Amino acid sequence: MEKTILIIGSGGREHALAQSFSESSSVDSIICSPGNAGTASVKGCRNFPAPGNAEILNLALKEQVDLVVPGPEQPLAEGLVDELKAAGIPAFGPAAASARLEASKGFARDFMARNGVATADYIRCRDYDTAKFSLERFGFPVVLKADGLAAGKGVLICTDREEAEEALDSVMLRRDFGSAGDELVIEECFIGWETSIIGITDGMSFLPFLPAKDHKRAGNGDTGPNTGGMGVIAPHPLVDGDVIKDIQDNIITPTMAGLQKEKLGYAGFLFIGVMVTPRGAKTLEYNVRMGDPEAQALLPLLDGDLNKYMEAALEGRLADVKPRWRGGASCCVVAASGGYPREYKTGYPIRGITEAEKTGCRVYCAGVKEDCDSGLLSAGGRVLGVTALGETLNDARALAYRGIESISFQNSWYRKDIGFS
Ligand code: AMP
Ligand code: GLY
Repeated sequence: MEKTILIIGSGGREHALAQSFSESSSVDSIICSPGNAGTASVKGCRNFPAPGNAEILNLALKEQVDLVVPGPEQPLAEGLVDELKAAGIPAFGPAAASARLEASKGFARDFMARNGVATADYIRCRDYDTAKFSLERFGFPVVLKADGLAAGKGVLICTDREEAEEALDSVMLRRDFGSAGDELVIEECFIGWETSIIGITDGMSFLPFLPAKDHKRAGNGDTGPNTGGMGVIAPHPLVDGDVIKDIQDNIITPTMAGLQKEKLGYAGFLFIGVMVTPRGAKTLEYNVRMGDPEAQALLPLLDGDLNKYMEAALEGRLADVKPRWRGGASCCVVAASGGYPREYKTGYPIRGITEAEKTGCRVYCAGVKEDCDSGLLSAGGRVLGVTALGETLNDARALAYRGIESISFQNSWYRKDIGFS
């Protein structure tokens, strides 16, 4: 039987997903909505715009797709999977009830606390006065989080009372994050190092991909403002057997038991942000999707057929499956527009992608559009992700930097220390 997959999204993660499906012998055709210049260039992949969940449902019905794979969190939180399932269309992702694990930081912390998942001390505040009264409860530094989805920007780490009051005003008075700030979570600040634990779940088991290391800050040496992620290496060099066991026992196992007990299990990606502290591994957050740019580093390392792993999850037989890896390491470096993550300009011609590919790198398009006259133009903050594989992390890193050096567009920049910091 022919198999058509519809991917939702328009970033580098979706380009990487499309590329993986294109290399899969069990997938016949791919649609990406809306997609970008990168997904349009993938063999067997067509782009179609569909601006909302209703339009996506119509597209899925019209094109008779066999599976929908949402990339970003927004459509999941807005109930896309519920609508697709009601229409009899299989989807790889959670219903809105389970997407709250990502869409509400307070809900996620309560879930962790109820189910014995290693979490932070925290308090949920629905009003300004309670929040102000609670600012010193966990000492300093302290972490303030807008409860809802805020495109990764709603986490504020405050070193003293003054900064905490300023952050509180930003979230709850000035409403800088809109309705995401209807509620605030105040929590203890962990000190340690981070790893992205991403895998596939069927609601009962968790099939982990390799542990990855994202680089979230804009500046070299982990300085400057937070971004969506400026580069990723995998596997994470510090995640050894002891750390894996800690994460398995204190985070993954109780999370899976909690999902089952509370009937929140689903077939899809699960991404657990983990901080390894002197007191053990602690959960920072759940995401109910693949990471970006983690996907651009992890998927090229996967040796098996991604669609087959997804099918196993959808059929509830993930416990019998083991992922196969190519061996070696991966490094993805992101090229961004000048000014990102603050104000930036787009529309600049991009040169050198073919040269970068000739070095052996894979170039994933994130904020890129195609113009009939000028070719590829920058169209977002994070523009490209250049991924290289190597026998060692050093090899992968050297090749990724050789590749990204051949790429240019006006005011472009990238971190020089991915995998070093
Ligand atoms: P989140 O969106 O919850 O993952 O938060 C984004 C980033 O903020 C994380 O990757 C961490 O770097 C940081 N962060 C979040 N929660 C905490 C915490 N409790 N302690 C220290 N850092 C945190
Ligand atoms: N790179 C982090 C994320 O996808 O949330």
